[in-house]
Amino acid sequence: MASKIHKICCVGAGYVGGPTMAMIANKCPDIRIDVVDINEKRIAEWNSEILPIYEPGLSDLVAEARGRNLFFSTETERAIREADIIFISVNTPTKTYGQGAHRAADLRYVESVSRTIAENAEEPKIVVEKSTIPVRTAEAIRAVFDASETQHHHEVLSNPEFLAEGTAISDLESPDRILIGGEQTPGGLEAINQLADIYNRWIPEERIIKTNLWSSELSKLVANAFLAQRVSSINSISALCEKTGADVDEVAKAIGADSRIGPKFLNASIGFGGSCFEKDILNLVYLCEHFGLPEAAQYWESVLQMNDWQKQRFADQIVDSFFNTITDKVISILGFAFKKDTNDTRKSPAIDVCKRLLEEKATLLIYDPKVEPTKIYDALETDEENSNVVICSDPNQTFEKAQAIVVLTEWDEFKDIDYEAAHQAMQKPAWIFDGRNVLDHKKLTGIGFKVRSIGKPNEA
Ligand code: UDX
Ligand code: UDX
Repeated sequence: MASKIHKICCVGAGYVGGPTMAMIANKCPDIRIDVVDINEKRIAEWNSEILPIYEPGLSDLVAEARGRNLFFSTETERAIREADIIFISVNTPTKTYGQGAHRAADLRYVESVSRTIAENAEEPKIVVEKSTIPVRTAEAIRAVFDASETQHHHEVLSNPEFLAEGTAISDLESPDRILIGGEQTPGGLEAINQLADIYNRWIPEERIIKTNLWSSELSKLVANAFLAQRVSSINSISALCEKTGADVDEVAKAIGADSRIGPKFLNASIGFGGSCFEKDILNLVYLCEHFGLPEAAQYWESVLQMNDWQKQRFADQIVDSFFNTITDKVISILGFAFKKDTNDTRKSPAIDVCKRLLEEKATLLIYDPKVEPTKIYDALETDEENSNVVICSDPNQTFEKAQAIVVLTEWDEFKDIDYEAAHQAMQKPAWIFDGRNVLDHKKLTGIGFKVRSIGKPNEA
């Protein structure tokens, strides 16, 4: 069936909107896509050689389509007027004030985009929620449309994005599933099919799941909650492994071989980060509480409590290893992003660990291959004036006179560092705290390091 969609507008040129639209532009060269954002600097970066986000494979994808059928601008109103379908991909931070503070999502950006659509759309449109939002947001969007003077009937769809940062392009190219929720009315079902036709150009029909609106909205929160729960579960076991002499990687392998459990997402770590997991679980907790289900709320809240405990436990272990005195000690920090292959630091566990070490007055020499220094300073609520936070452009610069190396992100390049040379440059005894279990601990112990990792018997 020929697509009825000729023009797409995506509001929000972030980690989700940018890569998703770059993929659609590549798969559908006949569709014009306008990605718009209120942030002029961000748009200028999307139009430059150095994109605002780092994601393997993204710059090639953008280079191919940009100027052909992919356009980045701040012309929101024009793009909305011209589009057949509008994706809302703005951020939905956790509310910091009023009812639902620190739990519910702040929908003000979604609502403001909805108002702009209501005011500018000159004919009925399909409006797609791409941002992760609380269940029943579609209702809020609909209320904005219904209250507008034009009163066009725009169809609202929920089409949550499941890409993970660092693997966004392969996730978009070959997703496990595409989820589209809409009203179960003739108009709603037609809109679902039109959106499905776009994805169907490269994704087999059987991977496109069509549901009602609320199922789609809720499924996104639940998927993230289940993933985060797996990380908290294995992290809770990592603590037990450290006490009993079991090895968490061996346990993960053994349980992951059970096809009912599966091998993925069982890497014990210093804790999960990223913009979604905490926010989405808080949303789920809020929903459960709102609907009078405190036991269910408490259950999901414990996933976050376990995560906080894991981060704190790791930082405490570093401080304890130096007999509670790390004042003026130099510590090499390898990695600051919340996971490898991204420059994103939102909710990175590195922030909590570094803050804790700074509270103890350590001096941190920080290296991350992709995170810009300003982002690190901002995350640590400090600046270049602070001599206790030094950002290095080469990992080797962080070892000079350091007492410990702390691995906070699992960047592949950390495996290739010359640890013999690092050991020589460091103060003795030299420690390594591997918060991601990515290094060769036996080899490091052989070099003379005292090694601590997550969920493993101590090497020395
Ligand atoms: C996404 C999803 O949209 C969010 O719901 C999910 O939970 C986290 O990931 P992301 O793309 O990562 O957000 O967010 P971000 O990189 O902050 O991008 C959002 C963009 O929307 C920003 O560039 C911001 O300037 C833009 N924006 C925000 C608008 O263009 N208009 C607004 O009114 C508000
Ligand atoms: C997540 C979901 O995976 C994705 O489907 C959704 O669209 C957005 O939220 P993202 O946050 O980008 O994606 O990355 P993800 O790979 O899920 O990792 C989240 C955090 O969990 C990272 O800090 C990561 O290091 C940590 N993690 C993941 C572990 O500690 N152990 C694991 O086994 C897996």
